[in-house]
Amino acid sequence: MNKKVNLSNYHLSGKMTVPGDKSMSHRAVIFGSLAKGETTIEHFLMGEDCLRTIKAFQEMGVQIEQEGLTVKIISDGVNGLQEPKHPIDFGNSGTTARLLLGVFSGQSFHSVLVGDDSLSKRPMDRVTVPLSLMGAKTDGRVNGKYLPMSIRGGQLKPITYELPVNSAQVKSAILLAGLFTNGKTSVIEPVKTRDHTEKMIGAFGGKIDMDGHTVSIEGGQQLTGTSIKIPGDISSAAFFITAAAITQNSSITISGVGLNETRTGIIDVLKQMGAQLETNVTNHIGDEMVGDITIRTSDLKGTTIAGDMIPRLIDELPLIALAATQAKGVTEIRDAEELRFKETDRIKAVVDVLTRLGANITEVEDGMIIQGGTSLKGAVVPSYGDHRIGMMSAIASLLVVGEVEIENPECINISYPNFFDDLFSIVVRNES
Ligand code: S3P
Repeated sequence: MNKKVNLSNYHLSGKMTVPGDKSMSHRAVIFGSLAKGETTIEHFLMGEDCLRTIKAFQEMGVQIEQEGLTVKIISDGVNGLQEPKHPIDFGNSGTTARLLLGVFSGQSFHSVLVGDDSLSKRPMDRVTVPLSLMGAKTDGRVNGKYLPMSIRGGQLKPITYELPVNSAQVKSAILLAGLFTNGKTSVIEPVKTRDHTEKMIGAFGGKIDMDGHTVSIEGGQQLTGTSIKIPGDISSAAFFITAAAITQNSSITISGVGLNETRTGIIDVLKQMGAQLETNVTNHIGDEMVGDITIRTSDLKGTTIAGDMIPRLIDELPLIALAATQAKGVTEIRDAEELRFKETDRIKAVVDVLTRLGANITEVEDGMIIQGGTSLKGAVVPSYGDHRIGMMSAIASLLVVGEVEIENPECINISYPNFFDDLFSIVVRNES
């Protein structure tokens, strides 16, 4: 059923928190399942994607229990996985599929991966090419490129690999496979991508070496179970940060958000656009910085976003495009062709949805160009089955006269099941 959102007469005010970080929740389950002993994960993101990661390790015999937002894992360690009896369904989750291909590569058993329509169209060769160089045997649809896919791993050999795409998923898959070699595996990344894998391995007693743009891991390490608390997801906070910046009379504080600098591009770009935004570091969880973000209604100006900045805000680009419709002048997003390989082609989807809402936005091969200062209007918009497109459309409703009607809104459960509850908890009706 479509979701009708009418927030044209509301502003944002108050304090809130957001659910646990998606990237870190996946990795905590992966490392917890590879670590010997007991692991407790608090403030876990109970979204569909992260539940897929839990299910996958349960299929491989790892004992995992959920209670509230806490996950408890008991594992025999890095060599304790068992052959899954059925194909593993990864649903919509690219992170689970790609990172687990790294784990499967180190197992002498056979695994079959399937996913939903979106995941079955997303390229897996970016991961299987380096994993095959390490010795994994994979096959899949269209010459091994897509799910359904099968894999048989075993004793792998270490490699040094320069990433041809700026992808933390590819980097992480290789590093995970590196654990199952008997030497040093190095990944060279021309542009730095999120480093949660590197940071989290330390929390599980593992060793990893980061030297400039090269990350190296020694095979044969044992990991040890631990207790970990997942910070709030900046990619989820980004919906409310953007909303407050572009809605009149708004001021909010979001506390307990992960502020890892490989993820805070949205903060830097909004500030560059003139946003009244402050961060206040409150604590560290392991090597991850955590803090509060305060943001007020802001007069934004257009900007250019390209190059090394792109991986630091790749998932937030739809929101930046929305903010840019309200900025003074032109905003140009370039070097973002990776957006075409997300849950949907996010360049096409953002341009289509914002155009329906009245924006002046043009698609280019590697991004989009947005003319600012436009008034948006209500419309029926497709979610493209993409959680971030659905949520962006809901935020747009704060700006439109009338309502935004979102088709297939259930995809939002992939990363943010309580999104609408949290949104409605922070909006206040304007006094007439
Ligand atoms: C993720 C990495 C990014 C991001 C995705 C999560 C991760 O993908 O878009 O939502 O957890 O490693 P790429 O690595 O493909 O850029």
